Amino acid sequence: MNRVKIAGTGSQVPSGVITNADLEKIVDTSDEWIVQRTGIRERRQVQGEETCSRLSSEAARKAMDQAGVESEDIDLIIVGTVSGDYPFPATACLVQDQIGAHRAGAFDVSAACSGFLYGLSVGWRMVQTGAYKNVLVIGAEVLTKLVDFEDRGSCILFGDGAGAVVLQASEGDDQGEILSASLFADGTQNEVIWIPVGGSRTTHSLESFENREHLIQLDGRAVFKFAVSTMRELIQRGLEENGITADQLKLVVPHQVNLRIIEAACKKLDLREEQVFINIEKYGNTSAASVPIALDEAHRSGLLEPGDLVLLCAFGAGLTWGNAVLRWGNVQGAKS
Ligand code: UT7
Repeated sequence: MNRVKIAGTGSQVPSGVITNADLEKIVDTSDEWIVQRTGIRERRQVQGEETCSRLSSEAARKAMDQAGVESEDIDLIIVGTVSGDYPFPATACLVQDQIGAHRAGAFDVSAACSGFLYGLSVGWRMVQTGAYKNVLVIGAEVLTKLVDFEDRGSCILFGDGAGAVVLQASEGDDQGEILSASLFADGTQNEVIWIPVGGSRTTHSLESFENREHLIQLDGRAVFKFAVSTMRELIQRGLEENGITADQLKLVVPHQVNLRIIEAACKKLDLREEQVFINIEKYGNTSAASVPIALDEAHRSGLLEPGDLVLLCAFGAGLTWGNAVLRWGNVQGAKS
């Protein structure tokens, strides 16, 4: 079995910015409430030609650049998304075309905010077994097209963006290695965050548009409770599975769901503030894109060195949740 490393990271956020002040003009909310309750100051929004696939392709190109991989070298493209360009075909197929990765297989993973971790787990196993050499795993969302801008409880949370990694076998003395990845789900909770209409069970109708059922419905309070305990469990589990303690972790890169959720989850775990990567103030919750964007920013800003232990964790609609623990390797592109 191959050891598998992250060989490159990349991210792309769209050009439009929605500030809390912008939202104050649309719904009954305030900058103060949003910052206090979520930690979010602004989020990005696609403009003009920007789409989920184009953000994905830009993020992928940057990750491939870092890994020194050409389009023709890519064997497989996995995109975690619930807001792809079309219901079908898969956004991964559009990315395959846009980056010219003509040899690659391509498919999407639908696991909402856990989509990147689900994709990472699959990609890891594909390279581990030797079936594929270069696998692109992307998390990408354009949720601003699916949120209800009349619902102050949810429209303040979400933003658009994409993050990507290239997975390869780790060779020689490169310490880079995915050490574990675990996936979980609880389908009994499928209506806590969902879009009720637009699938094959209930197709769009004039009535469903009037009731705004084609947009995200969120029971924020229910998710909040689940999120705090789940994030804590995901971190604890990752530590236990690898026989390590919290102080040995260089960085936790959590799903950027809500600053209060992240802080509450990490509080009882003896993690120091500098061990938890946060960028929610700039992007809000970008669902499947949040972990790979954060990982890319952490890497490019020079926070990670070869040998560092990193824990990734996320949860979202489904409900789904998952984690991964990795040892960082010799990845290009970090600011010195
Ligand atoms: O990645 C997975 C998807 N993410 C999530 O599901 C998010 C998880 N949940 C959360 O982040 C939080 O639950 C929210 C940020 C959504 C809400 O924060 P909260 O502290 O749980 O607030 P709440 O829902 O308990 O509402 C408290 C009050 C309510 O007013 P009353 O009933 O006490 O009078 C809400 O109506 O805050 C009100 N409220 C707002 N006020 C101003 C709700 N949204 C807003 C708002 N601005 N945007």
